[in-house]
Amino acid sequence: GSGDEKELRAPICCILGHVDAGKTKLLDCIRRTKVQQGEAGGITQQIGTTYLPVENIRERTSLKAEVTVKVPGLLVIDTPGHESFSKMRSRGSSLCDIAVVVVDITRGLEKQTIESLDLLKRHNVRFIVALNKVDRLYGWKPCHNAPIAKALKNQSVDVQMEYRWRLTEVVTQFKENGFNTALYYENKKMKHVFNIVPTSAKSCEGIPDLLLLLVRWVPEIMIEKLVYDDTVECTVLEVNEVKDLGATIDVVLINGVLHQGDQVIVCTEQGPVTTVIKDLLTPHPMKELKAKGIYKHHKELRAAQGVKIVARGLQHAMAGTSLVVVKAGDDLQQCEAVAMQEIDRVISMMDENVEGKAIQEVSRIRTCKEGVYVQASSIGTLEAIIAHLKRNNVNIAVSCWNLGPVNKEDVIKATAMLKRKEEYAAILAFDVKVMPEAAGLAAESGVKILMPDTVYKLVDSYTEHINEYKE
Ligand code: GTP
Ligand code: MG
Ligand code: NA
Repeated sequence: GSGDEKELRAPICCILGHVDAGKTKLLDCIRRTKVQQGEAGGITQQIGTTYLPVENIRERTSLKAEVTVKVPGLLVIDTPGHESFSKMRSRGSSLCDIAVVVVDITRGLEKQTIESLDLLKRHNVRFIVALNKVDRLYGWKPCHNAPIAKALKNQSVDVQMEYRWRLTEVVTQFKENGFNTALYYENKKMKHVFNIVPTSAKSCEGIPDLLLLLVRWVPEIMIEKLVYDDTVECTVLEVNEVKDLGATIDVVLINGVLHQGDQVIVCTEQGPVTTVIKDLLTPHPMKELKAKGIYKHHKELRAAQGVKIVARGLQHAMAGTSLVVVKAGDDLQQCEAVAMQEIDRVISMMDENVEGKAIQEVSRIRTCKEGVYVQASSIGTLEAIIAHLKRNNVNIAVSCWNLGPVNKEDVIKATAMLKRKEEYAAILAFDVKVMPEAAGLAAESGVKILMPDTVYKLVDSYTEHINEYKE
């Protein structure tokens, strides 16, 4: 098309799938990192973005110099597969250009695989299936980093047979869910039939194939969508508290440029907040943007990128909303009105609860007068905690919440429940530190601090507390 000569931006790719399918490990394999090993309970509990520059992708795929790649890189979003993190998955899938659905070849389609497919259908996003853990086929001979066809040729007849029937099984399961899929190098109708790439995140077979599909085939099918546009398009992915920086937002910059000093508007439930960008941070290339990390500072950043924005007044920003840039000569009040119009529209849609429609997943935390105090590393984890407690029929109300480490002030606020409903005088501190003074004050005043490190332990931790209280 006519987009051929235009500058393209990096495609945004969301990784989805059931818990433990190998999403993070696949990314580790691509980045040569070890994020997965360091995760509490071996599960991902945060949404994170990674920028993969085209040079690294070329090196990873042993691409010959004469082969052109039209995109400058790839922006990848890793999501958790645990059921309680559905809002993070929804947010990731709503803003991506393409998805990779990771399926464990030994398990086939699972509950959150199907949920992910529903999300992608709703948001009208195409996907590639990474049929992962092929190295688990009995007798597999590892061929590190090899393209999958080459790796398969190296296997015994038995391995190849098991591989074939498992592949056929998965294709049937996709069919039962309304999707036509085929092995990508046998796929003659790539427009209508979704590609499957067998992979191993352990020995890295099939990784070159997956990367090449993402940087060569994806731009081919959506070139117009990837044409770089100067108008800023930017979505808030997370809100989190960072040591020494205060409340920050992690955004996905889809188009345009952000500068230090830009006047921007974020949406909160109380109305628009206008602020100025103090700093723009990214992780180093091939590293992940999450709540903790070592950052690179930038004067300006060009789409597509995952960016941490430092500015005043971000603590009530709502994840899932757009960040609006006020340009020179713009009328501020008018800009604020536009920003709030979007949020009003989204909220009314959420309240109507239109089943099956593509609804922007905007964060809204409901609190009551009587309830526990919840402290988390980000808005997304806070939502997951609340979803998890609800799902497990733990009737627990939240009276207050905050992001970042537990400080003395948090404990003081939590003591309010001592007089109202004593068992609620507890702080659920999830993926955050407890400052020593806070711990001291809590012990003194009778506020209980619970610190489960995974959602799995959340319910037990809380019921244990209630039982102790009853005794
Ligand atoms: P969540 O983020 O919790 O949803 O899981 P995930 O999909 O990111 O899976 P993760 O990367 O945490 O991998 C889960 C487990 O499977 C880990 O023990 C990995 O080492 C293992 N694993 C992942 N991919 C492979 C693979 O290709 N081969 C083998 N043998 N093990 C794998
Ligand atoms: Mg993971
Ligand atoms: Na996992």
